[in-house]
Amino acid sequence: MNDRKLRIGIIGCGGISHAHIQNYLKQPDMEIVAMADLIPGRAQETAEEFGLKGVHFYPSHKELIDSEKDLDGVSVCTYNSQHASCAVYALEHDLPVLLEKPFADTLEEAQRIVEAEKKSKAFVTLGFQPRFDANMQLVKKICESGTLGKIYYIQTGGGRRRGIPGNSSFFRKDTAGIGAMGDIGCYSLDMVLNAIGYPKPVTITGYTSDFFGKNPQYNPLGKEGAEQFGVDDFAAGFIRLEGDIILDFRISWAMHLNTPGDTVILGTEAALRIPSTDCWNGSVGPLTIYRDELGQRVQTVIPKIDTGEEEWLKLFEMKIRSFLDAIKTGGPAPVPSSQIIYNQAIIDGIYRSAELGREITFEELISRK
Ligand SMILES: NC(=O)c1ccc[n+]([C@@H]2O[C@H](COP(=O)([O-])OP(=O)(O)OC[C@H]3O[C@@H](n4cnc5c(N)ncnc54)[C@H](O)[C@@H]3O)[C@@H](O)[C@H]2O)c1
Repeated sequence: MNDRKLRIGIIGCGGISHAHIQNYLKQPDMEIVAMADLIPGRAQETAEEFGLKGVHFYPSHKELIDSEKDLDGVSVCTYNSQHASCAVYALEHDLPVLLEKPFADTLEEAQRIVEAEKKSKAFVTLGFQPRFDANMQLVKKICESGTLGKIYYIQTGGGRRRGIPGNSSFFRKDTAGIGAMGDIGCYSLDMVLNAIGYPKPVTITGYTSDFFGKNPQYNPLGKEGAEQFGVDDFAAGFIRLEGDIILDFRISWAMHLNTPGDTVILGTEAALRIPSTDCWNGSVGPLTIYRDELGQRVQTVIPKIDTGEEEWLKLFEMKIRSFLDAIKTGGPAPVPSSQIIYNQAIIDGIYRSAELGREITFEELISRK
């Protein structure tokens, strides 16, 4: 690649596109050349807000990709149900993709992206910015160091007492497809699965509910929101992972409790506790390690590594930078689809198991048509 600036397109110009644009603009070696949104005028308004000049605007991802012949990559910032259509179309045109989390709204859609990536000269990287956080990286370091011994049980998830998003695209079936699991649960799953090397799920038993989202008293958009609500506001899963590890997961957008629990990782030599957070899209801490020393039970609190002001935006910038660097080197993807497909399989498995009222195997999930 010569020294010209990378040419990036933004697909979907809602809330999260602002964090993409803000952080792209900090990078000297790129320019935003095209933007698309299904809502007329939205791309233009967003460009104006950031003072972007010379941008071409399009009514959807297709026109943008068809018309812009010398793009170097796209950020897909659409709601979940459009992730696959946009990512697949970009990959078919050999365009690298930074795809917002969750992977997709269903496992089939995520599989479609994986298949397109296999046939493409380009890569897709998933937008899990917490991967770049020093405290999240410490969780992985602790798990990989052997300090915990053999890891056999993990509890993760957590979430909110009240926190159904006020944007209905997060909870309509046709736009989001998945609720609390896709919004915040996928992060807590990524934290622990990434820490232990992303083992494959073997079986999944799941539960989902929507008591709060469907109740006008608790839905942030009242009666209208409650009528539109089509996803989970609470979910729980019991997952067997390869390597004889149990994953006990619960996530909440709303419930009558402050938290369904911290993340705990139990090993034969020690255990790790990571305090629950409301969102999981930033940092975590302080971490506590529990173990025996000289025959005594001790615990060590590791102070949270100070990541300074505007922590979330800094992580976002690292995510954007990692995408641009991967474009320059021709990959690999900083957060690869080969891992996140298991994250999506767990979410999908919880839904599917809840519908069927029984445990479901990974093989059943992945082979269903
Ligand atoms: N990484 C993070 O911290 C973070 C935070 C919030 C949201 N997200 C993710 O970002 C995604 C978008 O969230 P949001 O809050 O911006 O949603 P939003 O509803 O505000 O915006 C999505 C926009 O995409 C547009 N769109 C949909 N399909 C399109 C297509 N085919 N072509 C062009 N435009 C299209 C919609 O018209 C809408 O304007 C979600 O998947 C969400 O999970 C990530």
